[in-house]
Amino acid sequence: MSPLPAPRTFRVKSFGCQMNVYDGERMAELLAAQGMEAGSEDADLVVLNTCHIREKAAEKVYSDIGRLRRDDGSSPLIAVAGCVAQAEGEEIMARAPSVRVVVGPQAYHRLPELVAEAAQGARASDTEMPADAKFAALPQRTRVGPTAFLTVQEGCDKFCTYCVVPYTRGAEISRPFAALLDEARALVERGAREITLLGQNVNAWAGEDARGRAVGLAGLIRALAELPDLLRIRYTTSHPTDMDADLIAAHADTPKLMPFLHLPVQSGSDRILKAMHRSHSAESYLRLLERVRAARPDIALSGDFIVGFPGEAEADFRLTLELVESVGYAQAYSFKFSSRPGTPAAEMPGQIATAVTDARLQRLQAAINRGQLAFNAASVGQRCMVLVERRGKHPGQWLGKSPWLQSVHFTGDASIGDPVEVELATAGPNSMSGRLLHLATA
Ligand code: 5AD
Ligand code: SF4
Repeated sequence: MSPLPAPRTFRVKSFGCQMNVYDGERMAELLAAQGMEAGSEDADLVVLNTCHIREKAAEKVYSDIGRLRRDDGSSPLIAVAGCVAQAEGEEIMARAPSVRVVVGPQAYHRLPELVAEAAQGARASDTEMPADAKFAALPQRTRVGPTAFLTVQEGCDKFCTYCVVPYTRGAEISRPFAALLDEARALVERGAREITLLGQNVNAWAGEDARGRAVGLAGLIRALAELPDLLRIRYTTSHPTDMDADLIAAHADTPKLMPFLHLPVQSGSDRILKAMHRSHSAESYLRLLERVRAARPDIALSGDFIVGFPGEAEADFRLTLELVESVGYAQAYSFKFSSRPGTPAAEMPGQIATAVTDARLQRLQAAINRGQLAFNAASVGQRCMVLVERRGKHPGQWLGKSPWLQSVHFTGDASIGDPVEVELATAGPNSMSGRLLHLATA
């Protein structure tokens, strides 16, 4: 391929999960550290940081590549990163000649080198998966803002039969305790007041604290809670199997740990859970939630659901609806089963017709929305801290999150990054209005 002028401006576009948002920020910091400038629509280098979890996400990449073509027929230097790069790197190179760089989620610390090779006229790719190599090679955090993500754990060893994550993100690894404390300190120094710890199985995080003692996620959370200017800690996504007693206890004994738990269950039918290779039953999941609620009675619960998994009968689906009713989720995500090549579920008999899956999804989403509105309505009158994240649409209006992760808007005298105390005043399905009481003292 012909050489290109070395790119001076870049744009990173992230799809999918919060970890991709985090990876996208770190790629942007890496490129900025090379002297490149964050650019607009017409940047010289465009990084598509992709998601492979469901079909539509992967298809989007190809249409995005097409859309990057300029009126004169030329394209920016296109790099495909993320899980589609990992899973389909070779196909992308073959199908989309304008893609010059392919880089997997465990190799993106090499992005500047690969871009330099590509600018010389090569097509460069790296989808190696060395455990934990990239973090040590990344520059210091430079992003600012009141809320930040921090990847503490990556990869998954659970091999649910529908899921590509164990193949695209690799085996479970935990980043070391000291590196995480350093990164958290850097984020707090630059203005972060809330940190969300990220991992595909974040509650499987394990490490050694400063004194060499073995600690789990609860120990890490308690250590982070010692940072004076850090006001709030969250974590996502957890697996029921790794929800240990210490983490449940942390919800009772660590005030900075927010009363929110995203704990995917996927289905309310034990038959389907078994076929999904989930290691819990509906009953064991409900018992676990009882223990969490005993530790932190006001905890807001969230989950993930898949409808139309192969073999799912109407009776199985009803059990999912029943579980949703009995948990009383504050929010939840629901997805249509998407057959992913290479996963066991793609080959299973009993694939469900699209019309059936569509109808089930609608019924499930209606139940989830009812639950969400009920949860919000029950919060009216509560006084709580809202961390101001950004301006609202109207003059003098501000937006932030309640401890229970509800979006709250209010008007009054505040600025971004302030912890303010509000009284929750009215409830909608997706947000709440608040009445500003005063600046909260953390
Ligand atoms: N089809 C549909 N949903 C999926 N998820 C993961 N893989 C699939 C798939 N093949 C959902 C699960 C998971 C969330 C991140 O995405 O609910 O918890
Ligand atoms: Fe995928 Fe299951 Fe691992 Fe979650 S626990 S990332 S759904 S394999």
